[in-house]
Amino acid sequence: MSQVRKDGVTLYEKKDFEGMRKAGKTAAEVLDFITPYVQVGASTGELDDLCRNFIKEKGAISATIGYNGYKHASCISINHVICHGIPNHERKLADGDILNIDITVIVDGWFGDTSRMFYAGTPKIKTKRLCDVTYECTMRAIDIVKPGARLGDIGALIEGIAHKNGYSVVDMFCGHGLGRVFHDEPQVIHCGQKGTGPLIEEGMFFTIEPMINIGKRDGIILQDGWTAVTRDKSLSAQFEHSIGVTNDGCEIFTLSPKGYTKPPYKIG
Ligand code: MF3
Ligand code: CO
Ligand code: CO
Repeated sequence: MSQVRKDGVTLYEKKDFEGMRKAGKTAAEVLDFITPYVQVGASTGELDDLCRNFIKEKGAISATIGYNGYKHASCISINHVICHGIPNHERKLADGDILNIDITVIVDGWFGDTSRMFYAGTPKIKTKRLCDVTYECTMRAIDIVKPGARLGDIGALIEGIAHKNGYSVVDMFCGHGLGRVFHDEPQVIHCGQKGTGPLIEEGMFFTIEPMINIGKRDGIILQDGWTAVTRDKSLSAQFEHSIGVTNDGCEIFTLSPKGYTKPPYKIG
C-alpha cells in the first residue's frame, strides 16, 4: 500500500508507476496528435474539440471537463496568457503567436498532466528565446530530482536560469502532487532556495510546470474566473511534465512518443 507522509505527500509503490506511465503517455499522445493542427487560422476552440474527441477515442477521460466548473478538454494559453486560457471558436491563431496547450487525462484512475509550447507561424527571436529558456528550466529541474533533494532545489534552479536570462518566474501557480487525484500535496513552487522545502523521496509523483515571463512575474485573473494573464502584458511560456521519483532519480511519465520536445516540431 502507498503511504501518506505527515505533510500529506503520498509515497506510491513500484507497481503504481505502471498506472502513471499509461496516463502520462496518453496525455503526451494528445499533444502529439494536436501538433499538426496548430496552424495560423485555426481557432483554439477547434483545437480543443479535436483534443476532446481524441481523448474519447483513446478510451481516456478528460480531467479538466467538469473540474471546478471548467468545460474544456484543454487549456490553451496564447502569448501573455500565463495559464488556464479558455478555448473558444472566435480566437484564431495569428502568425507569430505562441501558445501553451495543457492536457490532463485520467486512465484507469491515474492522472497524467502535461503541457508544451507551440508556435503559430514564425515567432520573433525574443519570443523563441523565451520558449527555449522555459524548456531549459523545466528539463534541468527534472534532471536534479532524486531522493534526498528538496523541492526548494527545483525552485532555486528554475529561478536561477530565468533570472540569468532576464525573465521572471510566476509565483501565483505551482506544480503539484498527482496520482489518483489531480491536485495533491506537495505544492511544487518554481522559485525558492536550495536546501529548503519538503524532502524528495522515492515514490513521490508530482508535476514540474514553470511559467516564465519576459516581464514582471505578476499575474491577474480575468473576469471569466480562469484566464491568468501577465499584469504587464508581457509574454509568458510554460512546459509541464508529470514525473515519479525513483531510487536514484526520476521517471518522466509524459514524454512525447513522437519525440516532440520543444517547438518547432518536425511533423512526421
Ligand atoms: N492542467 C492544469 C495543471 O497543470 C490544471 C488545469 S485545471 C483547468 O494543473 F480546469 F483549468 F483545466
Ligand atoms: Co499540472
Ligand atoms: Co497541466
